[in-house]
Amino acid sequence: MSEIRRLLVTGGAGFIGANFVHQTVERFPQYEVTVLDALTYAGNEASLAGVREAITFVHGSVTDAALVADLVRTSDAVVHFAAESHNDNSLADPAPFLQTNVVGTYTLLEAVRRHDVRYHHVSTDEVYGDLELDDPHRFTPETPYNPSSPYSSTKAASDLLVRAWVRSYGVRATISNCSNNYGPYQHVEKFIPRQITNVLDGRRPRLYGAGHNVRDWIHVDDHNTAVHDVLARGRTGSTYLIGADGEVDNRTVLATILELMGQPADAFDSVTDRAGHDLRYAIDATRLREELGWRPRYTDFREGLAATIAWYRDNEDWWRPLKDRVEAAYAARGQ
Ligand code: NAD
Ligand code: DAU
Repeated sequence: MSEIRRLLVTGGAGFIGANFVHQTVERFPQYEVTVLDALTYAGNEASLAGVREAITFVHGSVTDAALVADLVRTSDAVVHFAAESHNDNSLADPAPFLQTNVVGTYTLLEAVRRHDVRYHHVSTDEVYGDLELDDPHRFTPETPYNPSSPYSSTKAASDLLVRAWVRSYGVRATISNCSNNYGPYQHVEKFIPRQITNVLDGRRPRLYGAGHNVRDWIHVDDHNTAVHDVLARGRTGSTYLIGADGEVDNRTVLATILELMGQPADAFDSVTDRAGHDLRYAIDATRLREELGWRPRYTDFREGLAATIAWYRDNEDWWRPLKDRVEAAYAARGQ
């Protein structure tokens, strides 16, 4: 990683991006970090408290070609987290997903091509579609793309743009596809923080459908150590799947939250299921483990959940301003 000094992080005020910036400032204090973030409803400068003085923050969009070209020209590498990230929102209004996820990625690719800058593309396991509960296979870098939602189809489109820019223009890019993250600074629209803050707020948690859907949970810090490993030592043009063998069904996740928060096991409501709801995601991270030697640190999901609950308990100032609007939008959709 010695040639990287100036790092441009898009979406650094979002959940994973902010955690990435915290980790980067701590582990690589020699880096000059610039964050480019549009501060949409999902972005929050407060998530950068404590590192704000150590970085440069630029308020702007990844779709702004002139701004992006300016920032990329003076960077050694770009890590692209910025996205519209929530499936439920994409079902309600896909338009911003097309703009940010597809046009935004295209805009960055053109800039890194022109200025020959190293690019890492942060993507999702959802590009592979879903698996049956009893399917013995997990997603690998060879699994065909088969996205289900407007969100995941725009992420798939962005991945394919990256692959094309590598092959056609020789752009120095890598891609990572990670499973479901949890940890501090996650927006309260997402499953785990929504249920935790519902309990803290005296509201009943909400489970979509029967709750048999399985997600492959990974702590956000483990995702970000993997991104750093790929940035430093990943092979150009390669895709790395990031996952920590954390498959759990939603009903079990919710039961664990209720138990850890001292609630009765039946203190939740079953609500309208998500349209086109993916059944199961599961990651085979062999390439990442064998080629780059990456290992997760957070291997006890229950412990990680307990720490996450403690974080939301201790940081009500951070999530309180977001809560009512999110719940009003869910209520309007019967969720
Ligand atoms: P998030 O919604 O919490 O944060 C997204 C950030 O991007 C916000 O700060 C927002 O302001 C910013 N942003 C949105 N549009 C922008 C634009 N046009 N220009 C600049 N900034 C913009 O998302 P997240 O959960 O942190 O996800 C980050 C990335 O990781 C996304 O690319 C997502 O697809 C990917 N990913 C997420 C998960 C997960 O479990 N959350 C798992 C795998 C991959
Ligand atoms: O797999 C990676 C993906 O994980 C990322 O690409 C996405 O950006 C991220 O949002 C996440 O997508 P999911 O749709 O899996 O996450 P979400 O937190 O929205 O939902 C997790 C599961 O919980 C899913 O099966 C739907 C269910 N759910 C969600 C909410 C918000 C509920 O049962 N109740 C809820 O209130």
